[in-house]
Amino acid sequence: MVETTPGPAPGAVASFKDDLFRGRVALVTGASRGIGRSVALTLAALGADVAVGYKRNGHLAEEVAERARRLGRRALAVQADLEAVAEIDRMFREVDEGLGGLDIFVANAAATAFKPTLELQDYHIDRTLGLNLRGFAWSVKRAAERMRARGGGAIVAVSGYGSRRVLPGYAALGAVKAAVEAWVAYLACELAPYGIRVNAVNPGCLETDSAHVYFERSGAAPPGHVFALTPTGRPTTPEDVAAAVAFLCSPAAGFVYGHTLVVDGGVTLAGPPYPREWMERAADAVRRPG
Ligand SMILES: NC(=O)c1ccc[n+]([C@@H]2O[C@H](COP(=O)([O-])OP(=O)(O)OC[C@H]3O[C@@H](n4cnc5c(N)ncnc54)[C@H](OP(=O)(O)O)[C@@H]3O)[C@@H](O)[C@H]2O)c1
Repeated sequence: MVETTPGPAPGAVASFKDDLFRGRVALVTGASRGIGRSVALTLAALGADVAVGYKRNGHLAEEVAERARRLGRRALAVQADLEAVAEIDRMFREVDEGLGGLDIFVANAAATAFKPTLELQDYHIDRTLGLNLRGFAWSVKRAAERMRARGGGAIVAVSGYGSRRVLPGYAALGAVKAAVEAWVAYLACELAPYGIRVNAVNPGCLETDSAHVYFERSGAAPPGHVFALTPTGRPTTPEDVAAAVAFLCSPAAGFVYGHTLVVDGGVTLAGPPYPREWMERAADAVRRPG
């Protein structure tokens, strides 16, 4: 593991008041694990009632909901495979019935096969588009209909830095994330008249379950190299991303529309030639892969 520079992650949202989202209902997809879990818990810590979306890991989603309840919030775990429109409809109905409305929607769930284009099977392409683009559009439409009926809300999509940079084995998801970022800009303009703000976050490299799968299967150099070449010298954490999502949902971002906020410790700013010190960190990461 490389040495990491201390960053702003722990307690990054401590400066927000814990009643920032009191009385608001948030639905976070893919909230059983990783970034989504941290977003759900952060919004709950800031006062929101939360619906914790998941596909398979009901026990993990229920744990997140239970932690939110212990903070004094209403919370429920909601299952749906976002590749299926009927399941999306059921998920939104469960949120309507269980929490009585929707003010914040975070489109976070994602999955793909991490392979170069010529190695992708047709069903990999179909399912990547199905979950990450069609599922996004179907869900965001349903979220926006509810927010329009309530006179406003906030939507945040979680993109990824493969939308702008070519990463090994990331073509399908990277292209879809670029499409999501473009759609966010359209939605921001179309939904502004209804008081609905739409933005996105674009995280750098994290150490989540999907990142472990990515580094195992994509042919990318081990993650330590990426962290070593990041100006801050450490991975992005789920808490870094959750703090940015909370900001975008908050009144402090009340005039921010259609923006994709990059939360990556500067990794996408940096390019060769790298400072000698970073190359030494990277060489160290090669000796001690992690
Ligand atoms: N990790 C990174 O380095 C990184 C970098 C940039 C961007 N991102 C983006 O950040 C977001 C979260 O990534 P992560 O790494 O935190 O994810 P993760 O740990 O792999 O968790 C994925 C989540 O999505 C849910 N999910 C998967 N397939 C689904 C489906 N068909 N329908 C509904 N839910 C489904 C999973 O539910 P179950 O637990 O029930 O399976 C889980 O909650 C994604 O949009 C990803 O592209 C991640």
